[in-house]
Amino acid sequence: MFKPGVLNRRHVGEIIARFEKKGLKLVGLKMMRIDNELAKKHYDVHSDKPFFQDLVNFITSAPVVAMVWQGDDCVSIVRKMVGATKPSEAQPGTIRGDYCMHTNMNIIHASDSDENAAREIGLFFDESEIFDWADALTDWI
Ligand code: CMP
Repeated sequence: MFKPGVLNRRHVGEIIARFEKKGLKLVGLKMMRIDNELAKKHYDVHSDKPFFQDLVNFITSAPVVAMVWQGDDCVSIVRKMVGATKPSEAQPGTIRGDYCMHTNMNIIHASDSDENAAREIGLFFDESEIFDWADALTDWI
């Protein structure tokens, strides 16, 4: 998910392009404004952290772009491309390493396991919004 600010900074296309160039398959994509209740569900695991309310305030502050990507080892590939949570620790060449400065505005969220991906997809997408289209490139990637 591209967090608030990515749209404003006009980086949506170039960050999506990174995942496409890697060979991942885009099967879901939507722009949305997350409400308070959904934000709290999404970040439930952080509900006891001191930064929880700031996190909820930030993610609800402007539209986000939610995506579902598919591919072998998708979660670990995407997390490598995203980089460390703290932009100061994210390697150059990663998304957080290249596009952001502060942990609380770290530009992008990526699911950290297949189980959490399934849970998060369920929070943000209806089944009818996921497209398992035939991928002619499979043999080449
Ligand atoms: P994200 O991958 O969306 O998951 C939890 C988010 O909490 C994380 O990215 C950060 O944006 C945010 N966050 C804010 N402050 C902290 C912090 N001190 N440590 C870890 N995460 C933080």
